[in-house]
Amino acid sequence: IGRKIVYLESTTSTNDIAKEYAEKGEKEGLVVIAEVQTKGRGRMGRRWITPGRDSISITILLRPEISPYMAPSITPVLAVSVVEMLREITGFEIGIKWPNDVVLDRKKVCGILTEMSAEIDVVKYIIVGIGINVNQETFDNEIENIATSLRKYSGKKYDRKAILSGILNRFERNYELFKKEGIGPFIEDLKKYSVLIGKKVLISGINEEYEAEAIDIDDDGALLVRLENGDVKKVLSGDVSIKGF
Ligand code: BTN
Repeated sequence: IGRKIVYLESTTSTNDIAKEYAEKGEKEGLVVIAEVQTKGRGRMGRRWITPGRDSISITILLRPEISPYMAPSITPVLAVSVVEMLREITGFEIGIKWPNDVVLDRKKVCGILTEMSAEIDVVKYIIVGIGINVNQETFDNEIENIATSLRKYSGKKYDRKAILSGILNRFERNYELFKKEGIGPFIEDLKKYSVLIGKKVLISGINEEYEAEAIDIDDDGALLVRLENGDVKKVLSGDVSIKGF
């Protein structure tokens, strides 16, 4: 991973550029980096604002020989890699808010957007976009309460190159393990870093919204919650927020 790097001063979205390379047959491991993104995308159709230089915006192209059902598990594997690296560099209690936000001080410090192109039983390619808030001092009003950066939290500036190379190295190792053994080896870490377990949460799916208590991460990486009537439910996707945040 990262043997070929495309570095752009400004682009629409690194995910879009990685997709173009993928469609043209580019090999696994390509990393697209941009300083500025004019159409950065987040999950659920949201925007991801990247004014430049203070944050890290990258996309990794992967071509694992796995079933499309396994592909979403790449996201938690990457989240674990990011958390471990950021903890090592900063010493802060950085955690994972299922399914794929990396949080510090209850606010988002890194977001991950995984997109896949697949045929019925085979993945053609997966692109994993990562946005890390490193040295921003302020955020726009609309996201001020939900976003933070390493610098905003600590007052210290961090070296983006060290963070980036650390994450790519760690993810490369974890990705090899994932291809051999699946999500299994990462479940303990996902539990350890989870900021949801034990908390009352609000789950917003496509057609529903309900409250529950997050109780565990299942063997396949899904979130297990206890509903108000005591039933345990497995949450496979959606948006989860902690009540009272
Ligand atoms: C989210 O939290 O909703 C996911 C945010 C993902 C942002 C990254 S920045 C690099 C890559 N390019 C994009 O357009 N989005 C991802």
